Amino acid sequence: MAEWVKEIDEDGNILQTKKYDGKYYVSHFIGNIKDHLSAIEEMEVRDDDTFLLSYPKSGTHWVFTIASMLRTRDTAYHGSPMFMDFNEMETLNNMPSPRILATHMTFDRLPRQAREGKGKILVALRNPKDVAVSLHTFVKKLDYSDVIATWDGLLKFYVEGKMVYGSWFENIQAWDKTKKEYKGDNLMFLIYEELKKDLHSHVKKIDAFLETNTGEDYVDLVTHKCTFKNMAVEATNSFKPSDQWKTATTSKTLPIYRKGEIGDWKNHFTVAQNESFDKIYEDKMKNSSFHFMFE
Ligand code: A3P
Repeated sequence: MAEWVKEIDEDGNILQTKKYDGKYYVSHFIGNIKDHLSAIEEMEVRDDDTFLLSYPKSGTHWVFTIASMLRTRDTAYHGSPMFMDFNEMETLNNMPSPRILATHMTFDRLPRQAREGKGKILVALRNPKDVAVSLHTFVKKLDYSDVIATWDGLLKFYVEGKMVYGSWFENIQAWDKTKKEYKGDNLMFLIYEELKKDLHSHVKKIDAFLETNTGEDYVDLVTHKCTFKNMAVEATNSFKPSDQWKTATTSKTLPIYRKGEIGDWKNHFTVAQNESFDKIYEDKMKNSSFHFMFE
């Protein structure tokens, strides 16, 4: 069974999570966690399902929008993906195809059929300093959040691995393990910074990976639609808060698009915080096969 965890540190920073089997989840994760995880494990996967896995603030909405436009061959903007984490199984099972099913969990929590090769799996990863900044600015925008903390407070929770969905480093270690052990060819890693440097070639690669083969002109169009600027405009013009967002915000705009840059962490980390973070990064990432750009 999940247990509620409420941390209040000496400076009044608050972090509420649900903890299950040693891992931290968001408070609106479905039910007692255990039953929903079992239901996800046994879920019937369709051949044209796309699973989108990411640590929070790593470009989930970006990759979702690209994949959605490719899968549907329609450039309509759809805001947020459906998360397996916060939606009842009945809702997920009733979604029309092609489904894009998101989660902030790792490979081990995917439906068994996906782990056996059915459907496609996209994994969005981003450097941990920009993730921390994006998280902090994001939670401040929400009317309700599990985290109420100053930048210093949030960074401390983050480094301690207590944030919702746990430690960024443990998340990457889990992906390193998957990369080493998983033999299937239905999994693709996407690194935020690499998409930023060359969006067009990544849209093309995703098109090939999903076997949507939409063609050069359509890839060009999706690339254009999925720039930060164009997605932010769409989000402002067409956002309708779904059930997924209703508990967190009354905002009329999807609270996702902020700067969309590499290296904004430099405007938030103090010199001391950066030095300390670099030491932890060096230690925890020494055996990792993932390499992140920080600027
Ligand atoms: P910032 O807060 O640094 O701007 P997620 O979707 O996982 O919650 O990630 C949100 C982050 O992705 C935000 O980062 C957001 O601005 C960025 N993002 C969303 N769409 C983007 C795009 N088209 N190009 C670059 N960054 C994008």
